[in-house]
Amino acid sequence: MWFFRKTLKLRDLLEGFVDVHSHLLFGVDDGAKTQEDSIKILNTYKKLGINSSFVTPHIMSQIYPNSTESLKVEFESKLMPLAAEYDFNLQLAAEYFMDVNFCDMLKAEQPMLTLGENTLLVESSTVAYNFRFEDAFSDIEEAGYLAILAHPERYPYLDDSMLKRLKNRGVMLQLNLPSLAGVYGTNVTNRAYSMLKNGYYDITGTDTHTALTLDKIANISLNCKQYDTVKYLMYKNQYLFEN
Ligand SMILES: [Fe+2]
Repeated sequence: MWFFRKTLKLRDLLEGFVDVHSHLLFGVDDGAKTQEDSIKILNTYKKLGINSSFVTPHIMSQIYPNSTESLKVEFESKLMPLAAEYDFNLQLAAEYFMDVNFCDMLKAEQPMLTLGENTLLVESSTVAYNFRFEDAFSDIEEAGYLAILAHPERYPYLDDSMLKRLKNRGVMLQLNLPSLAGVYGTNVTNRAYSMLKNGYYDITGTDTHTALTLDKIANISLNCKQYDTVKYLMYKNQYLFEN
């Protein structure tokens, strides 16, 4: 007797999805390089039924020395006209690398680019453990912000006990959808599916750097349980930042 395991396409979940993580502001980081790249991403979003996204350029003092002020200017001049032309809802936030500069900004109470009123999207090294990793979350809390940790499945040093400690202190964990598509290799893919199964994630995003990322995400196949879990995460995205 044959048993069929039903597979579902992630594409069917994308209609109305609110993306919380994207690099579509061209010319400021390793995402879109040109206006044409940004337009390709917008067209692919629209094709998939997505009409809203936070724009989250890297702020990483050593590599992408963007600032709140510079990104506001770039966003207004480069993306707002496209948002109007493509009837697309864009909001500026950022993806902060948790380095010394980031912690200094928090301590100096500098204006930050947030998702919603007070939530920061943050990342750390995907290679080496920073001994101040957990202290940085204390700095975020002390400055009065909530934290979303981007793509926790990509940090090889982040074991289950550390993930649980982060969750217990209220850090939200953001599943990177490209991780499910195998974009970062087998280990990350396996880790992402394992974390999805074990209920670690709070929120999800595409982390799109090119239109191709979105096409890869749309083609992800999921079993029923994975599909329902991702659907729930997407549902939460939609309402998390409504004011
Ligand atoms: Fe990112």
